[in-house]
Amino acid sequence: MSDQARTNTRPQTRRTYPSGYGIVEPVANYRPWDVDQQFQEVYALVRDATMVDIYRLWTLWFIARQLPDGDVLEVGSWRGGSGVVIARALDPSSGRDIFLADTFAGIVKASARDTYYKGGEHANTSVELVRGLLERAGVPQVQLLPGVFPDDRAHEIEARTFALCHIDVDVYQSARETFEWVWPRMVRGGVVVFDDYGFYGCEGVTALVTELAGRQDGSEGRLTIVPSLSGQAIVTCTGY
Ligand SMILES: C[S@@+](CC[C@H](N)C(=O)[O-])C[C@H]1O[C@@H](n2cnc3c(N)ncnc32)[C@H](O)[C@@H]1O
Repeated sequence: MSDQARTNTRPQTRRTYPSGYGIVEPVANYRPWDVDQQFQEVYALVRDATMVDIYRLWTLWFIARQLPDGDVLEVGSWRGGSGVVIARALDPSSGRDIFLADTFAGIVKASARDTYYKGGEHANTSVELVRGLLERAGVPQVQLLPGVFPDDRAHEIEARTFALCHIDVDVYQSARETFEWVWPRMVRGGVVVFDDYGFYGCEGVTALVTELAGRQDGSEGRLTIVPSLSGQAIVTCTGY
């Protein structure tokens, strides 16, 4: 195991949480990310360009290596780290396009559903910075969609179908609008991964996933949601 893998998480400070929150301490001890050299190579490249910890990045990597045909969308790319992990997990000859969307001006659409975010957070990134990372990572199949999603740029990819959508936008309304836009475009077996689901401060996204879990009316693709102890919620399109 590399030293790097040992220092891959920030120790969480013990603090007082409200009811329903607290540090999660699973007892599992299988750590495939430590011994996967390909993953470790990519992780070394992105670790300073992502807020996503190694557990969530590994989950994205693992899912991305099993996808059915279809394009890939990430909304909320910030400095590009999680997007590059997904791109590098995919076979470059598969013909998929990968779209990374971000305002590059921080969080938008914060509302009363969100307890922490007010708007404008995480603006410390740029198109140039992400382009630099994409070049170092060697992922020419990635295209950037700068602007508010879906409002500004979704029309450019409206005819696509998707095998994976990573939604990492921190707040209820952006997460909801992204999900509602992408869900009818998901292929059967496609996966939507919500970041933020298991984090204090992102209660809007937790509420959205809880709402979706109750939506089984069959009017669109049927969904199965798996809540992960990594803090992600993993939604599979199980059929139409
Ligand atoms: C926590 S960061 C994403 C972290 C990133 N996935 C990583 O690997 O570190 C959240 C990002 O979502 C973006 N964002 C939020 N709502 C958005 C929207 N509706 N359209 C585009 N970007 C959005 C913000 O600009 C911010 O950069």
